[in-house]
Amino acid sequence: MICLGIESTAHTFGVGIAEEKKGKGTILANIKKSYTTKKGGMIPALASEHHVLNCGTIIREGLEKAGISMKDVDVVGFAESPGLGHTLRIGAMAARSLSVMHKKPLVGINHCIAHLEIGRMLFGADDPILMYASGANTQIIAYQGKKYRIFGETLDIGIGNFLDTLARHLGLGFPGGPKVYELSLKGKKFIELPYVVKGMDVSFGGLLTNLKTKIDSGKYRVEDLCYSTQETVFAMLVEVTERAMAHCQKTELIIGGGVGCNKRLQEMSKIMCKENGYTCFIPEPQFLVDNGGMIAWQALLQYKAGKRTRLTDPIKPYERTDDIDVDWRD
Ligand code: ATP
Ligand code: FE2
Repeated sequence: MICLGIESTAHTFGVGIAEEKKGKGTILANIKKSYTTKKGGMIPALASEHHVLNCGTIIREGLEKAGISMKDVDVVGFAESPGLGHTLRIGAMAARSLSVMHKKPLVGINHCIAHLEIGRMLFGADDPILMYASGANTQIIAYQGKKYRIFGETLDIGIGNFLDTLARHLGLGFPGGPKVYELSLKGKKFIELPYVVKGMDVSFGGLLTNLKTKIDSGKYRVEDLCYSTQETVFAMLVEVTERAMAHCQKTELIIGGGVGCNKRLQEMSKIMCKENGYTCFIPEPQFLVDNGGMIAWQALLQYKAGKRTRLTDPIKPYERTDDIDVDWRD
């Protein structure tokens, strides 16, 4: 069975082609194009314009890479939630069009859950916890009682948005995470910053204000601030992940989301897992960032479990991970 999946929850328009044979999954193609800026943040209307302009080419490239045509596709999947209304709508339109034109069933899925399931598929992980660290989302997710439940999350902005805003304040472009990382490598001195963990949740808003004040004072080296920021926020994330794993008695960790590309966060997560005797799975970057491959795989799983989306079903920009009944897992 083959599924073509479309990702468009934010800056990335992605197309993935997933195949399942005898219960084993493979990603045949994973093509994407992302909206970026040299200066300033992402403007939703411009990101959706970017998707409109690129969707045709990316879909064609995906099919070409997989060496198939639409007639080989059994299901069309797309991310129907959560994300920016502007951009979700473009992916949904593209998926609906393909579904109508080629008479294929349509399956809309939740993007956050796809980050976890792609990790299970790639590594054969059994029952992992997901440290989901992306632009808009920061959540620790684990399977319990037929739902993917959130055991800790940000109380305000996502960790990636936090890094992007910090980068913007420093006059760097979008996405800011990789730029903060590059500067952090030249950091020499650790500067004490607010470490905000409340119960199982984290918060970045106060830290951001604190950093802006420090930057504007001109008293600190930018490299030291970037280094100290990473050490602080990643420690917060690893701390709540470690506690969630102990609480849920899970022994496998999967990292997901664009911030998961960060080598320092990966290193800290590996150390935590090693100290506890846990296994740490880190997908390659193409499956950490927003991508169509994970959407295709998730849609395939849910199609097999009976899910069908109608053309008239709306997108769900605010759907939460734990709203969904997980009926595709044993
Ligand atoms: P989601 O829809 O899942 O919330 P997203 O739309 O934010 O995801 P992702 O591609 O998962 O998209 O993540 C993008 C974020 O990842 C941006 O905030 C970017 O700055 C950050 N990022 C990318 N690479 C790195 C890196 N090496 N270090 C830190 N942050 C990074
Ligand atoms: Fe994502």
